[in-house]
Amino acid sequence: MTEVQHLLSNEITDSWKLAGRNWGTSLHRIMSRTGSFPPSLARWAVEKFSDRGDIVLDPFSGKGTAPLEACMARRIGVGNDLAPEAYVATRAKVNAVPLREVRRWVEEAARLMRPDTVSVYDVEEEVRVFFHPQTLKQILAVRELLQESDDDTANFVKALMLGILHGSSEISLSLPCSHSFSMAPAYIKKYARQHGLKRPVRNVLACLLRKAEAVLADGLPPVRGACFNTDALKLPLADQSADLIVTSPPYFNIQTYAWDNWLRLWFLGHDYRKVGKRLFGTQSVEKYTEFMEKALREMHRLLKDNRFCVLVVGEVKLGKNRIDMAELLTDPAERAGFTARVIIRDSIRKGHKYLMYLKQWQGVGRERLLILSKGEPAMRERRLEWREVGVG
Ligand SMILES: C[S@@+](CC[C@H](N)C(=O)[O-])C[C@H]1O[C@@H](n2cnc3c(N)ncnc32)[C@H](O)[C@@H]1O
Repeated sequence: MTEVQHLLSNEITDSWKLAGRNWGTSLHRIMSRTGSFPPSLARWAVEKFSDRGDIVLDPFSGKGTAPLEACMARRIGVGNDLAPEAYVATRAKVNAVPLREVRRWVEEAARLMRPDTVSVYDVEEEVRVFFHPQTLKQILAVRELLQESDDDTANFVKALMLGILHGSSEISLSLPCSHSFSMAPAYIKKYARQHGLKRPVRNVLACLLRKAEAVLADGLPPVRGACFNTDALKLPLADQSADLIVTSPPYFNIQTYAWDNWLRLWFLGHDYRKVGKRLFGTQSVEKYTEFMEKALREMHRLLKDNRFCVLVVGEVKLGKNRIDMAELLTDPAERAGFTARVIIRDSIRKGHKYLMYLKQWQGVGRERLLILSKGEPAMRERRLEWREVGVG
């Protein structure tokens, strides 16, 4: 049995930690979503463990960070996420469209939309709390136009809309609130009253265009990828179709993705309660390990021989216990056929903690990378002599 090697992220000479906080192409900023990892980490894993033209898969792609970084590094990025808003964001990144396509869509929408004929009183009160009636009428008109279409341009516009639906910038359509997650209506109502917050009147199509200009400022990725919206336990891909897997699986149920995105899901025509039932989540270590073993078996099936699988996990507090997910997943990964090679430990700096709004007992303390291999990849050829990588 191969011994697992342990490294600290600051022992790696070319660590992703060296990248600045806002590192990454402008397309990453189409929509923020809780629980995502930094683009620089995804790029590091992609460049270390794959070559140009390779297929890089993320079966739990969230907002699509890893597939986009794969495309940026001239690999074919393939994403999948069961959550509808995550699918829209990932697809928008791997199948982005040029600005002229967005302009064309906006011009057409301006001709077709009749916001004055739309009634806002058919909409749930929880949604109306966030928007001025004039803005909401336009949102409803855009939503109706988008609901019928599923081409790449319509998907890209959906992602842009999700990116401006709520937040506190001058192009956000809601009253000032969080951009990363949809706040609870009862809370925001009270908060808005206490702080005298106003629901802004916006020109939705103008805001959409400004968002597109910002997001496409650095241009399109050099390579297009692909995206699925299905269960990671059963992906519609042939055996051995990926050259590398880079993924961050669900972290027990500390992340309530469906509730966090309830307003975005409303915009896309979904009920967050139904979506929440489909996404995986549990507080039971046993159920979690069982689910992850199945997910790892599927990853093992999809990965080519002599290739790597990189899992970005964490150290999680569950009740009174502290669980190192890299350690926890080592046995299930080996039962699924992988060899555990390296665990890289890291500290998420205070204040940068992307899960800050969670209660202390729920938070992810430290990031961990669990690097697995299927077979025996040629480490030397790939310049992956672990001790040479570290400076310690
Ligand atoms: C830790 S997040 C991934 C975040 C991603 N790395 C990013 O940068 O945005 C885990 C993801 O798993 C998704 N998920 C949960 N259950 C799933 C399932 N059974 N199949 C596919 N995706 C699932 C969630 O929607 C969530 O986006």
